[in-house]
Amino acid sequence: MKLLDSWYAVALASALKPEHPLAVQLHGERFAVWRDSSGAAAAVLDRCPHKGASLSVGRVQDGLLTCGYHGWCFGADGHCASIPAQHTGEPMPHRAHTRCVPCREAYGFLWLWWARDPEAPVASPEVLPPVPAVGPIPEAGDGGWRNLEGQVEWQANWLRVLEAFMDLTHAPFVHSGTFGASAPDQLMPEEQWVKDDSLYERVLAPRDRHYRADQGRGLRGLFNTDDKAVAESSDGGVQHIQLWLANVSLVRVVFGDFRISLCTAHVPLDDGRTLNLWRHFRSFLRTPLADANARGRVDRFMAEDQRMVETLTPRLPDLDGRGDLLLVSDAMTLCLRSLLREKRSAGLLV
Ligand code: FES
Ligand SMILES: [Fe+2]
Repeated sequence: MKLLDSWYAVALASALKPEHPLAVQLHGERFAVWRDSSGAAAAVLDRCPHKGASLSVGRVQDGLLTCGYHGWCFGADGHCASIPAQHTGEPMPHRAHTRCVPCREAYGFLWLWWARDPEAPVASPEVLPPVPAVGPIPEAGDGGWRNLEGQVEWQANWLRVLEAFMDLTHAPFVHSGTFGASAPDQLMPEEQWVKDDSLYERVLAPRDRHYRADQGRGLRGLFNTDDKAVAESSDGGVQHIQLWLANVSLVRVVFGDFRISLCTAHVPLDDGRTLNLWRHFRSFLRTPLADANARGRVDRFMAEDQRMVETLTPRLPDLDGRGDLLLVSDAMTLCLRSLLREKRSAGLLV
C-alpha cells in the first residue's frame, strides 16, 4: 500500500555527504540523492538514461550528479547538462533526462514527495505542501541534548510498523526485558487526537527501573554536574507519542528534566520491508562515553518489537477490520486505520 501525494522521510540527512550521491529506496523505486551547487538536496530516479547505470554510484561534481559510467551530468531538474563523449556544439538529445522528484531536508531527515501521478510534470515547490511539522525535537547543536542515530530493516509492511509505534498495550509483554517491565497492563491514554494527518496520544509513563537515580552516578558526577534531573525521575512521568503521515513517529518520555526522545522514519522499501531510521536524543548522561549503552538500549527494544511485528499476518493490515479483532484499548490503531480509509476513499491510498 502506498500513500500518494505525501512526503516520506527516506534517509538520515547525516548520510548525505557532499561529494557522493546517496541511494534511497521508496515503494520499490530507487532514487539518487545529492547536494546541488546551492547545498540543497536534490533527487532523481536512480537510472541513467544513457545505458541504465545507477546514478547513485556516480559522484557529485560542481553540484551536478555525474554518472560513473560515461560521465553524463545531471542537474536537480533531471536534465542532462553535459555529455563528455559528444562533440561540443551538438544539441542535447531530447531524451537526455531522468525524472526528478521533489526533495527536502528537515528534522535530520531527507524527504521525498510521492506524487499521485509520477509521470505528471513535477509540481513547483510553492504548490507542494510543507514537510510535516515533526516535533518538538532538539535542534542540531543544542548542548542540552546528546543525539545518536541508527537504522534497522524489518521484514514487515510499513503500516504494520507504524501501528506498532502507536501501540501502547504491547509494552509490558514485548518489552518485559527492558522499559516495559514496570508498565501496567492497562495503560490508558490521558489524551488522544487526530488532526491534519497526525495522531497523538499521551500516557503516564511508568518509572523505568533502568533509569533510576543510582544508575550512572559516577559518570554524571564527572561530566554532567548540572544534571539534577534524574533524582526527580523516580515518580514516573509522561510519554508523548505522535505520528505524522506518511511515515514519521516521535516518542518522547519526560521525567521532569530527564527526557528521552526517539524520532523514527519508517521507510517503506517495498510492501514487505521497512527501514527504520532512528534519531535518539537524551537530556542526561550527555557524555559520549554513555553512547554505547544508549545505543544498545535502542537496538534492544527495537529488536524486541521487530521479533513480534515480523510475525504479523496478514502482512498488510486489513483497513476494513475483518482481519484483526481490535478493541477500545487499540484506539490509536483504530484511529490510524480510519484515517487511512479516508485516504483510500479520496484515492490517496492504493
Ligand atoms: S550509463 Fe550513464 S553515462 Fe553512460
Ligand atoms: Fe515497542
